[in-house]
Amino acid sequence: MLNPLIANVANTPAIVLGAIATLLVVFVSSLKGTGWEPATDISDEVLERRASAVPETEFPEPGNRAIGGGGGGGAIPAGGAEGEGGELEDGEAGGSGPGDIPEDEVEYFEVEFVKQGETVELSNDQPILEQGEDEGWDLPYACRQGQCVSCAGHITDGPSEDYVEHDNQQMLEEAEIDDGYTLTCVAYPRDSFSIETGEAP
Ligand code: FES
Repeated sequence: MLNPLIANVANTPAIVLGAIATLLVVFVSSLKGTGWEPATDISDEVLERRASAVPETEFPEPGNRAIGGGGGGGAIPAGGAEGEGGELEDGEAGGSGPGDIPEDEVEYFEVEFVKQGETVELSNDQPILEQGEDEGWDLPYACRQGQCVSCAGHITDGPSEDYVEHDNQQMLEEAEIDDGYTLTCVAYPRDSFSIETGEAP
């Protein structure tokens, strides 16, 4: 019968050989790599894509909510036709927008403001937002130029452009317009309809 100490000593080379073999396997595996690669950080790419989808804006600082304090957004000619002193002669097609309607051709439509619980007559030569404000309602807005969605509303009767004409709205997509959404600051009535204000897509 072998003394246990002697047996341990006898096994030592085998243990050492086993350890060396294990280290070799680990070393070879590390040379090959595991095939794992860090996930690419797509956040920058996503941010860039989103930024490119948002048009440049030049609207006033938020908080400039004084009615009429924005210099009368509706009176600013579309396209900034100021190159020739800002004067447009009557009858010139140049800077005409959906609100440039001769006084004797102005029409009125019955518009139901669902949340306000009232139906009022709106003319076709002023944006819905302005005419709602004339009723004394505190309607939401920010840029008043069709460049944000603060003033968005929902026309419940169908595609919004069946009922209003937008003057250069830059935010709503075709599908959203088809769903009835409108930007009230640049939307001129073209028919009677019902609208829920303060509703964005
Ligand atoms: S207030 Fe910004 S789009 Fe109408």
